[in-house]
Amino acid sequence: MLNKNAPIGVLDSGVGGLSVLKCLRELMPHENFIYLGDTARTPYGPRSEKEVRQFVGEMLDYFETQSTKLVVIACNTLTVLGVDTLKGNHEFDIVGMSKGARLVLNGSNNKTIGVFATEFTINSGAHKAAITALDSTATVVPKACPKFVPLIEGERFGSTEIAAAVAEYAVPLKAAGVDTLILSCTHYPFIKKEIEREMGDKVKVIDPAEQTALDAQMVLHKAGLLSENAAGQTTICFTADLARGKRIASRMFEVASCDFRTVSLE
Ligand code: DGL
Repeated sequence: MLNKNAPIGVLDSGVGGLSVLKCLRELMPHENFIYLGDTARTPYGPRSEKEVRQFVGEMLDYFETQSTKLVVIACNTLTVLGVDTLKGNHEFDIVGMSKGARLVLNGSNNKTIGVFATEFTINSGAHKAAITALDSTATVVPKACPKFVPLIEGERFGSTEIAAAVAEYAVPLKAAGVDTLILSCTHYPFIKKEIEREMGDKVKVIDPAEQTALDAQMVLHKAGLLSENAAGQTTICFTADLARGKRIASRMFEVASCDFRTVSLE
C-alpha cells in the first residue's frame, strides 16, 4: 500500500536530473524527495541498452527500499527505453521525461525544430517520432551531443571546451534554420545560457523539465497520492563524488536544507 507522505524518487545517470528536481520542488514544495544520481557510472549515453537497463533496474530497486510512492526518471536516455518496460513488479508508478512535442510545436513558427540529446536518445528516434506524429509537416533536426555530459559532470562551466562544443553542435541546426530547440538531455539546462547565446535570440530553447514535473503531479493527483503533510525534505544521493555533486547541485538551487548521502548500488 503506497503512502501519501512517502518520498518521490528522482533518478538520473548523474547530476543532470537535478534540473528536473528543481522544477519538482518548485511545483510541489511540501513533498519529500530522494534524488539518486549514478555519478560512479555516468555517462549512460554512449552505453549499450543492456547496461543501462541493468543500471536503472538497480536504481529502482534502491527506491523500493526507500518506499517511494512514485519514481521520476529524470533522464531522457532511460526514458526512451520505454517507461512501461521498466516498471516490473514495483508498486510505485514511474514517470519519464516529457518529449515536449506539443511544447516545441506550439513554440515554433516555421515548424523546423532542433533536438539536442545523447547518442542513445538520438539513435532511438523517439523525439523525432513524437513531434512528427503530432505534425507530419514538421522538420526535425536531431543532433547527438556526446561532449556535453562529461564537460558538465566535470564542472567545466564557462570553459572554452563548452563554448566550442556548443558551436560545433549548433552548426547543422543553424544550417537547417531551426527556430526552436529542445534540450532532450537533463544535463543540458546547466549550459542553457551558452546554448541560447550560440543559437541567437530568434531561436527558442525549450527545457521539458517543467512539463515533466506537471506530468508527475498529475499522476500523483490521479492516484490520490499527493501529500497532505509531508515535511518538504530533499535527500540527494550520489554513487560517487559527493562533494562534486553538491557543488553542481548548488548551481541549480539552494541546497542548505538538503541532506547529501553516498549510496552504493553494486
Ligand atoms: N541526463 C541524461 C539524459 O537526460 C543522461 C546523460 C548521460 O548519462 O549520458 O539523457
